[in-house]
Amino acid sequence: MIPLRVALSKGRLLDPALALFSRIGVTPATDIGRELVFASTDNRYRFLLVKPVDVPTYVEQGAADIGVTGGDVLLETDRDVLRPLDLAFGACRIVVAAPIGETANPNGRVRRIATKYPRIANRFFEAQQIPIETIVLGGSVELAPSTGLADWIVDLVETGHTLSANCLEPIAEIASAHAQLIVNRASQKIRRVEIADLINRLSKELPC
Ligand code: PRP
Repeated sequence: MIPLRVALSKGRLLDPALALFSRIGVTPATDIGRELVFASTDNRYRFLLVKPVDVPTYVEQGAADIGVTGGDVLLETDRDVLRPLDLAFGACRIVVAAPIGETANPNGRVRRIATKYPRIANRFFEAQQIPIETIVLGGSVELAPSTGLADWIVDLVETGHTLSANCLEPIAEIASAHAQLIVNRASQKIRRVEIADLINRLSKELPC
């Protein structure tokens, strides 16, 4: 039997995703170190470790059958994948945040928005009819206002600690999101029974 290929997001979603798979008896056959691919002990699954933003790409293109990714990433990347199961971890919000007490825009110039989520930011501000300039960053977005790189940010907030540690506060919520299981369209047809079985077993481990 060819293993099902499961793309997992490195970072904050990795441990809860592995914990969920381990609750249905699917565990890595080796310690997870620098290797980016590892099998499950029963050899029915092959896990691929990829950057969160790349999980939908792997799944859409068929390099992975299944993926675990954040709703924030799905909103931003807008990939053509199936989304059969909401997972109960990785709850977060996408917000607009500004330096504490600095929400006014007295000179009326175009706001510069630093973000890892340019599509989400552009869609939101377009709907509000507020002109912006987006500054796309790869991370540490909260640094942008205090260094003068941007006025506001659009970013993911989980605990809120990073915002407050950088003297920022949310001024608008764009969306809430959590982890999701995604499936490649062709895999869903070709490996329907195995995927349905996996989804069934995972869903029983999720809180009601
Ligand atoms: C994310 C996000 C915030 C932080 C929010 O960054 O972009 O920076 O987590 O978490 P908190 O609300 O619990 O403080 P990530 O850890 O993915 O690192 P990055 O800045 O390198 O993208």
